[in-house]
Amino acid sequence: MTTYAAITGWGKCMPPAVLTNDDLSTFLDTTDEWIRTRTGMRERRVSHVSAIELSAVASARALACAGVDPAEVDLIIYGGVSNDELVPNSASGVQVALGATRAAAMDLNTACTSFCYGLATATAMIRTGAIRTAVVIGVELISRYLDWSNRNVAVLFGDGAAAVVLQATDREEGMIGSVLGCDAEGRETLRVRGFGCTYSGRDVTFGDTIWDFDGQAIFKRAVSAMAAASQRVLEQAGYRPEDVDLVVPHQANLRIIEAVAKYAGIPMEKVMLTVQKYANMSAATVPVALAEALEEGRVRPGALLLMPAFGGGLTYNSLLVRWGQRVTPLGESARELPPCRESALELVNRVRATQDPHGRSRAGLMAPEFAEAVLRQ
Ligand code: UT7
Repeated sequence: MTTYAAITGWGKCMPPAVLTNDDLSTFLDTTDEWIRTRTGMRERRVSHVSAIELSAVASARALACAGVDPAEVDLIIYGGVSNDELVPNSASGVQVALGATRAAAMDLNTACTSFCYGLATATAMIRTGAIRTAVVIGVELISRYLDWSNRNVAVLFGDGAAAVVLQATDREEGMIGSVLGCDAEGRETLRVRGFGCTYSGRDVTFGDTIWDFDGQAIFKRAVSAMAAASQRVLEQAGYRPEDVDLVVPHQANLRIIEAVAKYAGIPMEKVMLTVQKYANMSAATVPVALAEALEEGRVRPGALLLMPAFGGGLTYNSLLVRWGQRVTPLGESARELPPCRESALELVNRVRATQDPHGRSRAGLMAPEFAEAVLRQ
């Protein structure tokens, strides 16, 4: 009998502090009009807690939704770029927070596609029989290392997290097709310098956060990679564009999403959008959009979902997911974030105070007690 990996739980955790386009124009040479018309973004969230905390709340909600005890989880995949520390990994922090004592814990970084790559990895492990239950997280805390002095990137990103629970089943559900790839010729079009071994003893100090970002090149490569991957995944699985009930895409720019939908031959009414309120949350965009689609009743029982994404690398994917019969949660988690006592602009200004005018973090120059206060936030 064939084993599949059904998505039986979903949950998101959005930090409450909202940063508007007008907030950004208090310290950047930009306008609400430019940001809205070029990207579709109106606001984004800024987190007052760590990425592990965001992930733990999202995962607890997803487990309650699935009716799964944390002790039953075999594997936690933490998908994203934003890690609390180099070592230990972040998935182990989520494991402790959940009490998922039996689980293996793995971080997976393919930038914005990390959740989708994680979903493909966990699905494959369930389908081979290696594991039966997994939590896959997409999370990002970009506000802590965004170059807030560079308007080319500072207006584009936000924080957030969401998770899904996968369980072995003999019903044909969950991810039924995948195309994963990497347009590595374009890897230098998106880079955050300062956080790798390259930077020890070189001109960029370890701990700096300098962003290299060629928006137009990424835009073009993103559209062609996501459109081609979507066409291929549909062909491979024997479906046509009109069979797709809902597209849950990466949310980097409304214009990118519109172009991909056009090339894929799918009308925008069938596309889930969150870019206007959450901006680009990198690895968190697809699972947050999925959780919201379920909350809004946009996923019907048995629906066919298409999930195209791209990110640094330039990694890309398109996944095909057959939803099960249940579109409502089995239970709810009481887990909440601690209250946030600062505005989003105050949180951002706190990070800006640690950056020099070129967006470099002054981690090495900060007074230890201030560095600690920033990192604790
Ligand atoms: O998840 C992967 C992450 N990467 C991406 O998603 C990036 C994909 N790329 C994009 O979304 C778009 O290329 C951007 C939104 C980044 C930029 O939009 P664009 O339509 O490609 O604008 P542009 O780079 O061609 O810039 C047009 C103008 C320039 O001024 P001039 O040279 O025409 O005078 C920029 O300097 O807009 C200027 N500009 C801004 N103006 C106000 C660039 N950023 C801003 C800004 N506010 N924030």
